[in-house]
Amino acid sequence: MAGTNNIVEAEHISKSYVGVQALDDVSITIKEGEIKCLAGENGCGKSTFVKIIAGVENATSGTIRIGGKEMTKHTAKDAIDAGIQVIFQDLSLFNAMSVADNIAMNKLIKEGKPLTNQKEIRKIASDALALIGVDIPLDAQIQELSIANRQLIAICRALALDAKLLFMDEPTTALTKNEVDSLLNIVMGLKKRGIAVVFISHKLDEVMRIADSITVIRDGHKIGDFAASEIDSKKLAYYMTGREVDYQQYERKNDSEDALLEVKNLTKKGNFEDMSLKLRKGDILGLTGLLGAGRTELAFSIFGMNKPDSGEIYVEGKKVTINNPDDAIDLGIGLVPEERAIQGLFLSKSVNENVAAAILKRIKGFLGSIDSNRSRELSRKAIDQFRIKVYNEDTVISTLSGGNQQKALIARWAATGPKIFILDTPTVGIDIGSKAEIYEYIQQFAAEGTGVILISDEVEEIVANCNRVIVMFDGHKVKEYTEEEMKAPDIKEQINRLVESGKPGKEAAQE
Ligand SMILES: Nc1ncnc2c1ncn2[C@@H]1O[C@H](COP(=O)(O)OP(=O)(O)O)[C@@H](O)[C@H]1O
Ligand SMILES: [Mg+2]
Repeated sequence: MAGTNNIVEAEHISKSYVGVQALDDVSITIKEGEIKCLAGENGCGKSTFVKIIAGVENATSGTIRIGGKEMTKHTAKDAIDAGIQVIFQDLSLFNAMSVADNIAMNKLIKEGKPLTNQKEIRKIASDALALIGVDIPLDAQIQELSIANRQLIAICRALALDAKLLFMDEPTTALTKNEVDSLLNIVMGLKKRGIAVVFISHKLDEVMRIADSITVIRDGHKIGDFAASEIDSKKLAYYMTGREVDYQQYERKNDSEDALLEVKNLTKKGNFEDMSLKLRKGDILGLTGLLGAGRTELAFSIFGMNKPDSGEIYVEGKKVTINNPDDAIDLGIGLVPEERAIQGLFLSKSVNENVAAAILKRIKGFLGSIDSNRSRELSRKAIDQFRIKVYNEDTVISTLSGGNQQKALIARWAATGPKIFILDTPTVGIDIGSKAEIYEYIQQFAAEGTGVILISDEVEEIVANCNRVIVMFDGHKVKEYTEEEMKAPDIKEQINRLVESGKPGKEAAQE
């Protein structure tokens, strides 16, 4: 099978660590100039494969040919000489050095040239930046740059070394939606220049957007190789998890028409304007729209973290003033903020402290001296119930994977049983397995009578979980879909169109 246009042929690769079979008989071929996605859930062996091809680690058994040449037990230098470059997650840049130095240094070292010729350094760096069509000041220090730009510098450094094949290991983890878009464009640009990219991800949408071919790994085993055209995201999800993911649309089964929460004409200049909504027991009300539509700000206002200029909030028919999160919690409101906000709020604390934090609020009179056995028991129960993958309840939340952090926070609120539960983009960046579990929990809360507000960018997620939906655009409500309207067979397309255009169906269609 040694075709001439294969840049890497890895055959029957196995790798075992003490107690772990990270890869078991995995064969993968990477063609010149293709974008190959290596897809699989966390811990399935993706990074291990990269390290083996890059010569950072050696396989326990198997053969590797790079550019037709047998390279088994090769070193990192052998791989680099053969044109293989890896953008690892930590990027390995020198933070206190300039952009130009970081891009050029490895090339100069490889060529045995002095590291002092500023003219040559700048030329190498600006050529590499031009290749990907971005403009970053050559004299900027790495530490002044955003994560997204640092990543581009790491890519440029690889290009300066004449990479023929670039591995990118979960490159989008720390990026915003816009940054992901531009990174994916750059990856496609590299392909046009004949550079092969192995893009490693557990995120279906990214994989489906850029892959020419997809190799799925599960639990150290190769599940299959697929042309991107012969697989859809549902199948891909199935291959990755081994579980059928067929989301049933949520149906409210509660006949109470009373409003748990009612928001009337709420306005916060610059964030959102004249927002009204009504939430009943058992509702899962979707709040969708483009990034920046004002959804998070509205949620913060309801949770007492963003004082509105005008308008009213009612909880169970009573007009309320919510000045801070404590007021909100006392009224039975819970919030799982978006990923970035979690960072600031709870990350340095243990799972126990996080779960206990919400309960503490409820156990009055214990100020400072909460019964630690009781809190531990509750935390352990939460870990068990929500299948949070964690060593024990004292583990610090920041060391958990994104999905498990989200689950810990959901557990934290579940412990107190909020009447009104707001979740802001709770499944961004987490793997499909955890995602399905989070949907289950959300629907379970609602079935038990909680009113849920689900903020999400993902229309598929909204349609699967919500019985009513509000679409926001630029701080305004553009449409509210009723329970009846949500049953339309083309509801996904309708909402998608509206989210993109900000205009209700007919107007958008006329343009
Ligand atoms: N150096 C190591 N020592 C022991 N186990 C490891 C080591 N590196 C990875 N593993 C284990 O090998 C498996 C695959 O890990 P990895 O390749 O990092 O997965 P992925 O990149 O797909 O998330 C995991 O069970 C992981 O815990
Ligand atoms: Mg990995």
